[in-house]
Amino acid sequence: MQGQSNLVKEAWELLEDAIVYYRGRPVGTVAARDPYVESLNYDQCFVRDFVSAALLFLIKGKPEIVRNFLIETLALQSSDKQMDCFNAGQGLMPASFKVESWDGHQYLTADFGEHAIGRVTPVDSCLWWLLLLRAYVKSTGDMTLAHEPEFQNGIILILKLCLADRFDMYPTMLVPDGAFMIDRRMGVYGHPLEIQALFYAALRAAQELLAPGRRGDVYIQVVNQRLSILNFHIREYYWLDLSRLNDIYRYRGEEFGEAAVNKFNIYPDSIPYWLTEWMPEKGGYLAGNLGPAQMDFRFFSLGNLIAINSSLASEHEAQSIMDLIEQRWQDLVGYMPMKICFPAVEDLEWKILTGCDPKNVPWSYHNGGNWPVLLWSLAAVAQKTGRPELGWRAVEMAERRLAEDEWPEYYDGRNGRLVGKASRKYQTWTISGYLLAREFLENPQHLNLITFDEDPEMLALMGKVRELR
Ligand code: GLC
Repeated sequence: MQGQSNLVKEAWELLEDAIVYYRGRPVGTVAARDPYVESLNYDQCFVRDFVSAALLFLIKGKPEIVRNFLIETLALQSSDKQMDCFNAGQGLMPASFKVESWDGHQYLTADFGEHAIGRVTPVDSCLWWLLLLRAYVKSTGDMTLAHEPEFQNGIILILKLCLADRFDMYPTMLVPDGAFMIDRRMGVYGHPLEIQALFYAALRAAQELLAPGRRGDVYIQVVNQRLSILNFHIREYYWLDLSRLNDIYRYRGEEFGEAAVNKFNIYPDSIPYWLTEWMPEKGGYLAGNLGPAQMDFRFFSLGNLIAINSSLASEHEAQSIMDLIEQRWQDLVGYMPMKICFPAVEDLEWKILTGCDPKNVPWSYHNGGNWPVLLWSLAAVAQKTGRPELGWRAVEMAERRLAEDEWPEYYDGRNGRLVGKASRKYQTWTISGYLLAREFLENPQHLNLITFDEDPEMLALMGKVRELR
């Protein structure tokens, strides 16, 4: 194993090499620079992948690349998104973009999902974009950029798309399968936690970014209202711990009307057997998804971590999630932080949920693989909840392998001991995720770029709602 300072140096060099230039200016980073396999679309700059690198550049006083990225992706948002029968909503941000040259000129071409495997919609991109814009403003103090008319317009297009009326009863956002980091069919359609947590964080960012004025004021009101009901809904209905599990176990079904306790008609028999043993005495987490007679009991890491960072999870819940991670360390962190979701779906369930996806076989890739990029979010929550030792433990674990294994995209196996079967090497967000994790642990003052405090107004409102029930 290399010394830790050599590791940091190597990672920085690799990150600099991954920078994409457009007309002479840095605008993002490629997803991976794997010398061994064909690049497919890994030579593109993915919005979600760039987030950790962008935060690092901000921390290191290099905001230009983030500014350029925000400007160029904003321009792509309003570009024509029609191809074949694929017709995306106006505010949608691309999953990724690429620099191309014609006639001696450079152009950016974007993928809004119309090229992606499975034609999946990148719902998370516009949410990450808002979070990055807020981080940029926080780090540089440059609110003028966010207040420019094009930016205000872009923010409002995103809000329109996210807050549009739908055939849906919930304050959560209804999305198709594969709408976020898990961009393949994995039974994560409907109201997956990761999207809801990102949605919540993005609305909080919008609250800070909307310029005062008639349009801004109207949207602030709409955003505020949605934030409080979304917060209530997630805390109230997604939360799982032993006591909640006991409630669900004794739920009656078929309740009609307002007084229903089992509002979503969850049948006790749907509680998976593994969970009755796995749920610790102390600790809990937010469920992966919730819909009619459907509770996805899997633990999805990024959704839970974003819920802590955005204060969507209450302080008590945040501590309980950390308790769970600590007590189920071997399952959730293992040899490489951290598992994308736990447990894997197997056998018939794998066939049905993934459509027999050979890349998502049990304990691989999105189906229970370990993703080093999650390290930075884990370090951030460890720091935010006052438990940095857990963050350090994870970083030290990752340091044993990352460089030696050539910075893989993901690991396989129950405890993440095998480099992923189809994993890219020199994956950029693995590299930036590692550097950013160290940064948050060493310099906690930077955490505020990506975290939100508990909203006191919301707390008061939640108290009132509870009193009324
Ligand atoms: C895979 C991941 C996705 C990521 C992309 C580029 O498709 O599932 O989350 O953005 O690779 O790294």
